[in-house]
Amino acid sequence: MNPIIINEEKCIGCGLCAKDCVSSYLYIEGGKAHTNKGGCIECGHCYAICPQGAVTMAGYECKDEAVVPMTEIPADTLLTAMRSRRSIRQFTDQPVEQEKLDKILEAGRYSPTGGNSQKVAYTILGSRQAEAEAICVELFRKGIGLAGKFASLAERFNITDNFFFKGAPLVIVVSGKSKTDAGLASAYMEIMAESLGLGVLYSGFFVSCTKLSRKLREMLKLPKGHKVRTCLVIGYPSVKYRRIVPRKPLQAKTL
Ligand SMILES: Cc1cc2nc3c(=O)[nH]c(=O)nc-3n(C[C@H](O)[C@H](O)[C@H](O)COP(=O)(O)O)c2cc1C
Ligand code: SF4
Ligand code: SF4
Repeated sequence: MNPIIINEEKCIGCGLCAKDCVSSYLYIEGGKAHTNKGGCIECGHCYAICPQGAVTMAGYECKDEAVVPMTEIPADTLLTAMRSRRSIRQFTDQPVEQEKLDKILEAGRYSPTGGNSQKVAYTILGSRQAEAEAICVELFRKGIGLAGKFASLAERFNITDNFFFKGAPLVIVVSGKSKTDAGLASAYMEIMAESLGLGVLYSGFFVSCTKLSRKLREMLKLPKGHKVRTCLVIGYPSVKYRRIVPRKPLQAKTL
C-alpha cells in the first residue's frame, strides 16, 4: 500500500519533501510531488517538512500538530537534571495517575527505532504485578538467576518479597525484537517519568527472570518475536538526593 498521499491542489512543487526523503520515495515532476513504487519507511519526514500541509499518511491519524523544538528546554537545565537523576529503590504507596502513565507511554512511542520499525511494546503488570514478583522471588531464593556475574554477589542480596519491584505501584515491561530500539524507548520513558516527579528503577533482575521462567513469559503474552528488553519500576520516590554523584572519567576520543 502507498502510505503517502500528496494533495496535488496544495502542492507547490518546492521539492523539500523529495530532498529530505530517506528512501528516495518521492520525486517532483510537472511541478508536483509524486510517489515511487516501494521503499517508504513511513518516517513522516515529508509530512513534517511540507510547508503547504499537502502530505497525509494513509493509516495514520494526521493531526497537524505544531512542533516544539528541544531548544525550548534550556540545555544547562536539561544536562544538570540528567546528571541529577538517580535509580529509585524506595517508593511511597501513592499510585501513578493514568494521565502520567499515558505521557510515559507516549514518550516511548515517539522514540526512534531502526528503519522506523516501531516494534516496541509495553506491558503494564497491573493486577498481575504481585504474582509476577512472587515467581521471581521464588526463582532467586532457589538461587536460579543468580548465576554468572551475580554469583559472587549472591550472598549479599536479601531476596525480600519486594526485591524486584520495591513496592512501586507501576511496572512497565518493555519488549521488542531489537534491544537497541527497546532500550531507547525505555530511556525516553524514564526521562518523561522523572519530569513528572516520578522515580524509576530498571529491574534487570526481572528481565533475567523472564528468560528463566516460562510461566512469566506466558503471563506477559508478548507480541510474536518479542523478547523482554527492559523493565521499568515506577512510582513516587520516598527518598531525596541532595547532590550529584561523581562518575568515572569520560571515555571519549576523536579519531
Ligand atoms: C539495564 C539496567 C538494569 C538494572 N537492573 C537493576 C536491578 O535489577 N536492581 C537494581 O537495584 N538496580 C538495577 N539497575 C540500576 C543500576 O544499579 C544503577 O543504574 C547504577 O547503580 C547507577 O546508579 P544511578 O542509576 O542512580 O545513576 C539497573 C540499571 C540498568 C541500566
Ligand atoms: S514517510 Fe519518510 S520514507 Fe516515506 S516518503 Fe515520506 S520521507 Fe520518504
Ligand atoms: S514539500 Fe509539500 S509542497 Fe513541497 S513538493 Fe513536497 S508535497 Fe509539494
